[in-house]
Amino acid sequence: MTESFSLRDVTFQNRVFTASGTFGYGDEVVDLVDVDRIGAVITKSLSLKPRDGNPPPRIVETPAGMLNSIGLANIGVKKFIDEKIPKLEHIGATILANIAASSVDEYCAVMDMLDSFEIIRGYEINVSCPNDRDGGLQFGPDPAKVAQITRQLRKRTAKPLIIKLTPNVTRVSEFALAAEAEGADAVSLINTLIGMAVDIHTRKPKLSTVTGGLSGPAIKPVALAKVYETFKAVKIPIIGIGGVSTWEDAIEFFLAGATAVQTGTANFVSPACAVNIAEGIAAYCKSKKIRDVAELVACWTHPPTSRWCKAGSESYCAMM
Ligand code: SIN
Repeated sequence: MTESFSLRDVTFQNRVFTASGTFGYGDEVVDLVDVDRIGAVITKSLSLKPRDGNPPPRIVETPAGMLNSIGLANIGVKKFIDEKIPKLEHIGATILANIAASSVDEYCAVMDMLDSFEIIRGYEINVSCPNDRDGGLQFGPDPAKVAQITRQLRKRTAKPLIIKLTPNVTRVSEFALAAEAEGADAVSLINTLIGMAVDIHTRKPKLSTVTGGLSGPAIKPVALAKVYETFKAVKIPIIGIGGVSTWEDAIEFFLAGATAVQTGTANFVSPACAVNIAEGIAAYCKSKKIRDVAELVACWTHPPTSRWCKAGSESYCAMM
């Protein structure tokens, strides 16, 4: 049974990644989980300079979810190179670097600093942080900006380039189309939904920034709908994010059109959940006599096209 899939020359051993901002830089979790069994570990967003992020409180638990307004706190790309890359080279994980920036030049500068390191197998570009006007969402709601960023970054790297999109727009598929047209290898969605929680005792918002980004099981139905909308629009793979906590959730995302998924909020509950979900997917496929997880991708929609008929899944195409 085939669990792997490829973007460019990088083959991911399975289709479950850990989402940026929920798994540190990858090295912090090695005592908790076999990171070499995760499809890919995506680093915390990296910016050119270190960032302190927003003042606390910047995390709030909500029914079936979590609100965050971290504000892209990170150690900066130089410290990441000096202190984290030497550790990541020894943990056996497939690492994708997530980049956040306040200008196109900054995105390019961060990528230029990272691109020669072999351990960085590809990139996820954060154009969708809801918590910092300078660090993402100023780009996310403008397809022309997303296109410009993708175009400039595509020129700079031959590694897989994934653009992470916001759901806080009317049609996420327009943004996916812009990224696809400029050479993105995949899009990931959804980043968090803008939300708010209020403390009735203090009579004030619970987050210092008033609003933040909602994640977790609460947003899964929204994420599935956005993935399906995007699946109908683009040909590049979609990496589904939003409340993936179990293998059943992952299968739902595949059926909605995702090629792979990311676990986010669930990592805080169970750091090994990505590994457990990958195992659950494999067991499900075996029990259903599915030879390649790719066969599940939106399999209920249209007659299969070349997108389903990758090596290893010809049997499925023959069945239809
Ligand atoms: C944050 O750092 O505020 C969250 C990152 C994101 O949602 O992209």
